[in-house]
Amino acid sequence: MIRISRALLGAALLSLLAAGCATEQAEEPPVPDAWGEPAAAPDRNPDPRIVEVDLEAREAEKTYLEGTTTAVWSYSGTVPGPLIEANVGDTLIVHFKNSLPEATTIHWHGVRVPNEMDGVMAVQQPIAPGATFTYEFTLRDAGFTWFHPHVMEPEQIQKGLFGLIRVRGPNEPAADVEKIAVLGDVFLNKDGTFNEELDDDTIMMGREGNVVLVNGEVMPALDVRPGGLTRLRIVNVANGRFFNLALPGHTFRVIGTDGGLIPKPYDTERLLVSPGERYDVLLIAEGEPGTELTLMNEPYERGHHTGLAEPMPLARVRIGTGSRLSGRTLPETGPAIERLPGGPAEATITFDEGYVDGKLTFTIDGKAFPDVPSIGVENGSVHVYDLKNDAEMDHPFHLHGFFFQVLARDDVPVADEDLANKDTVILPQRSTVRIATRFDEPGMWMYHCHILEHTERGMMGEIHVEP
Ligand code: C2O
Ligand code: CU
Ligand code: CU
Repeated sequence: MIRISRALLGAALLSLLAAGCATEQAEEPPVPDAWGEPAAAPDRNPDPRIVEVDLEAREAEKTYLEGTTTAVWSYSGTVPGPLIEANVGDTLIVHFKNSLPEATTIHWHGVRVPNEMDGVMAVQQPIAPGATFTYEFTLRDAGFTWFHPHVMEPEQIQKGLFGLIRVRGPNEPAADVEKIAVLGDVFLNKDGTFNEELDDDTIMMGREGNVVLVNGEVMPALDVRPGGLTRLRIVNVANGRFFNLALPGHTFRVIGTDGGLIPKPYDTERLLVSPGERYDVLLIAEGEPGTELTLMNEPYERGHHTGLAEPMPLARVRIGTGSRLSGRTLPETGPAIERLPGGPAEATITFDEGYVDGKLTFTIDGKAFPDVPSIGVENGSVHVYDLKNDAEMDHPFHLHGFFFQVLARDDVPVADEDLANKDTVILPQRSTVRIATRFDEPGMWMYHCHILEHTERGMMGEIHVEP
């Protein structure tokens, strides 16, 4: 789990970040299997349609900076936590034990669960230290997602509480290599302890760490074959950082996002991933055998003029020396998605920020949670809302329990072929995103900004789906 050799680069990256500029990264001999991909959680149920796993939240140690250890919070001892592997339609049973000194819950981000399994305070008493809870639900959708606590999120998630779920469907595109990339960061003191200082600037943008991680490692290495087709499932688990990915000389073919595969794959040279979002991409590794590429985080201005001045290295991509693979091609189409009925928005929900009683607050319709008026809808109904961002910064909007489809951006309709099922979408600064959702599961469901410091400071509301 802990690789000291990575830590050297960690220290280099830390000082580089402190200096606020990008320089050449240090040379390092290749290390085998250095991608740090999370291990699969053992399935202890022999029934092929039931995935039954044990999961324990507990303290662990990790080396992010050379010569230091960081006391992390983990699921079953690792950061990222285990990968739950399943097929669509499987029942997932998670026997969870909380061995942390603080109460917690698990929220299954982007999984359509019954309300009482959603892991939020409205439906569940936080699981006390030493207590257990069994989560059980059917995995209705193929795709890639993650799970995390829904109490004290900024602290518990940064400390390492996040795990992955990969659900396979009947029409998975073929690839030579399939990998996971968990994008995140931690804000550490020189001695490796977490820096938990929070000033208004930190809260304003969401906490951005000074050590940037992929799969919990600094600059891990992804091994690919020349000409090989690599499928990468990407999630951003950071509190506040956006990642704007680029791999020089390559384009990403985006084949899926939060809610699974999309009908019309598209190519992009920059892949912007906000906290909570997922992307499923394919890329064909090009380059001389034996050479190395660097996956970069490119500048992106998400508000208040805080964008990176320089690209930042995130990970290494090593082109192997084996013979060139050329058998596979990139898919042109994906499965169709049912388009939800559109029409004009029935309501506008406005996101903004300001000072309330001298305290920096993130508001929805002028109010901070729990004072944001709850929305009531009938089970089975489809609703169209305009999500209006009045702030001078982007907010990643996340809805629990349901997928939604983006219908328009600033009144410009989204083409049919660009349809996607999302559970998290960037509301760009000073703009409006129109969404449609079918609310087909009764209960109290949260929606919020996935910049965790904004969730904490008010930007969260509830939707009550009447049975
Ligand atoms: Cu991943 Cu309520 O969030
Ligand atoms: Cu969620
Ligand atoms: Cu926000």
